[in-house]
Amino acid sequence: MHVLSLLSLPLLVAATPLQFSRSRPQASELAPLPLVIWHGLGDDFQRDGLKTVAALAEKTNPGTYVHLIHLADSGAGDRQATFLGNVSEQVAEVCDQLSSDRILSTAPAINALGFSQGGQFLRGYIERCNSPPVRNLVTFGSQHNGIAEFQECGWSDWICRGAEALLRAGRWSQFVQSRFVPAQYFRDPADLGSYLEHSNFLADVNNERESKNETYKENLSRLNRFAMYLFEEDQMVHPKESAWFGELDASSGDVVQLRDREIYKEDWLGLKGLDEQGKLEFKTTPGRHMEISEELLEGVFKEYFGPIEVDVPVQNSLVKQVY
Ligand SMILES: *[C@@H]1O[C@H](CO)[C@@H](O)[C@H](O)[C@H]1NC(C)=O
Ligand SMILES: *[C@@H]1O[C@H](CO)[C@@H](O)[C@H](O)[C@H]1NC(C)=O
Ligand SMILES: *[C@@H]1O[C@H](CO)[C@@H](O)[C@H](O)[C@H]1NC(C)=O
Repeated sequence: MHVLSLLSLPLLVAATPLQFSRSRPQASELAPLPLVIWHGLGDDFQRDGLKTVAALAEKTNPGTYVHLIHLADSGAGDRQATFLGNVSEQVAEVCDQLSSDRILSTAPAINALGFSQGGQFLRGYIERCNSPPVRNLVTFGSQHNGIAEFQECGWSDWICRGAEALLRAGRWSQFVQSRFVPAQYFRDPADLGSYLEHSNFLADVNNERESKNETYKENLSRLNRFAMYLFEEDQMVHPKESAWFGELDASSGDVVQLRDREIYKEDWLGLKGLDEQGKLEFKTTPGRHMEISEELLEGVFKEYFGPIEVDVPVQNSLVKQVY
């Protein structure tokens, strides 16, 4: 089995070039929806590993237009933005990026794939913008319920360590909340008060504050399928069950699963509704954080991002079109 680590990036299917444009499909043509991919911390849109994933998506479902989300034009700038920036502003920038893309914006819907923090950021995109709307969302090792501990930087990773140094100003300071990306999904169940008061991103998109944003729930409820992959041996994300919206119980240290939590029971985000319709999928995969086999990815692409039939308005009526 090939193991594809998105941080150390072996080339697997480099022979298949990315296809960056396609003509609109004819009604009889079988073509998949476009796919957007948001990478994780420390990665960038120009790395071979990510290009390999894009090429595999194209190879699995020929004709797929793949867009790699990026927050700068250079790989270095895009990587830096995974550590540094105001996540709300980053999500807003991605909303503009997707809605101004000629192909994405004219598609009836798009599919979305989020790696690690890119998963909860894509959820932010859906809740706050969703134009073009996401049909199927798949996340790998995402921190949907945040992290209760910060990950350690590699000793030679100066951008990471520089960003981490910001934490000296205090994780809940406005200075840090508007700059250090992981702090904006930091969530310590033993100190929810500070989190609810100061969290710049997660407390808001998870609708945990007293006043709920109904749009977040409505938009997320429109998903056709939401598959959440958890890495069984994830040692990077604490707790790893955050990938499934699990929470560490502050006193016992046990993991409280989503279905036993208020966010679900009171359905602040529409997750309960999705679950009852069989649209919320709790998946596991062996391996550590971001160790994804090519076989697994191919299966995911077939299962979630394959060709579909959609209703397209043509002269006041709806026509079935295979996309
Ligand atoms: C809910 O979120 C939307 C999208 O971000 C925003 O436009 C709206 O103002 C928010 N509503 C409330 C009540 O905060
Ligand atoms: C992050 O940016 C948003 C949008 O500009 C702003 O409303 C918010 O106050 C910023 N967050 C912090 C912690 O400064
Ligand atoms: C999602 O929310 C935005 C912001 O409120 C709203 O304008 C939009 O119509 C919604 N889109 C979909 C497809 O749900």
